[in-house]
Amino acid sequence: MKTPRKGIVLAGGSGTRLHPCTSSISKQLLPVFDKPMIYYPLSVLMLGGMREILVISTPRDLPRFRELLGDGSAFGLELSYAEQPSPDGLPQAFTIAEDFLAGAPSCLVLGDNLFYGARLGETIRAAAGSGGATLFAYHVADVRAYGVIEIDDQGAVLSLEEKPPHPRSGYAVPGIYFFDERAPRFAAALKPSERGETEILDLARCYLAEGSLRAEKLGRGTAWLDTGTAESLLDAGSFVHAIQSRQGLMIACLEEIALHQGWLTKDELRATAASLGKSGYGEYLRRIAD
Ligand code: G1P
Repeated sequence: MKTPRKGIVLAGGSGTRLHPCTSSISKQLLPVFDKPMIYYPLSVLMLGGMREILVISTPRDLPRFRELLGDGSAFGLELSYAEQPSPDGLPQAFTIAEDFLAGAPSCLVLGDNLFYGARLGETIRAAAGSGGATLFAYHVADVRAYGVIEIDDQGAVLSLEEKPPHPRSGYAVPGIYFFDERAPRFAAALKPSERGETEILDLARCYLAEGSLRAEKLGRGTAWLDTGTAESLLDAGSFVHAIQSRQGLMIACLEEIALHQGWLTKDELRATAASLGKSGYGEYLRRIAD
């Protein structure tokens, strides 16, 4: 039987663009409207069917993530934790995760990336079910702050460039990456780029070179937001608020997703709701369970 794909959330970094908000707390613990930022990337892994997830953060912040999420059983998950002693690049997540993965394929999602949209779960599950590596491509107004991907009409990847001053396309690579079981080995062999870090797109290039890299466009009906600056954090919070208050349904309610996946019972939701007191999140859980 194939080893099930495991999830990794990388929630490291020093969040310098958000100082002083992040001078004493991890960016990925800040609220995006009514829940901590890390709930959003976790929800995406859960929608993709991944239950075994590793959370990677700094030695300073890791205890706070443990306090928030525990062993994951409240969300129907099996969570593990690992430290990233210094931020030396995204591919480091795979060398840190090597023992956790134990030969399983993986999906890495960045702790400050927020995805929302129709059929997102299907898209993620399809990528999770394929071999080699899968990246996504998402059109943004200004791609220069991101990894940039160029793809032809058949979906073949023509180029990958990290934060190019003169981008070859309008498509950014969002912070969600699917790799097969060889990622830790490939990651360990990467050399740092000019900015002194190993690059996730260099890891993807290992797969491109052997013809096993897939890229898929995330359509305009999908929202991909990042939360690295005060403005983008506020925008993300406003977006979540606007959708949730209109629909009366929550984005990234982990217990609700677990209930739909059959990983938690309604009684377990009620117990969590009781522990959350009078918060809107707790109220919502009660409503879902009843
Ligand atoms: C990283 C990646 C970049 C990707 C981005 C998505 O950039 O290096 O390729 O497009 O995340 O959020 P960073 O946030 O490290 O600048």
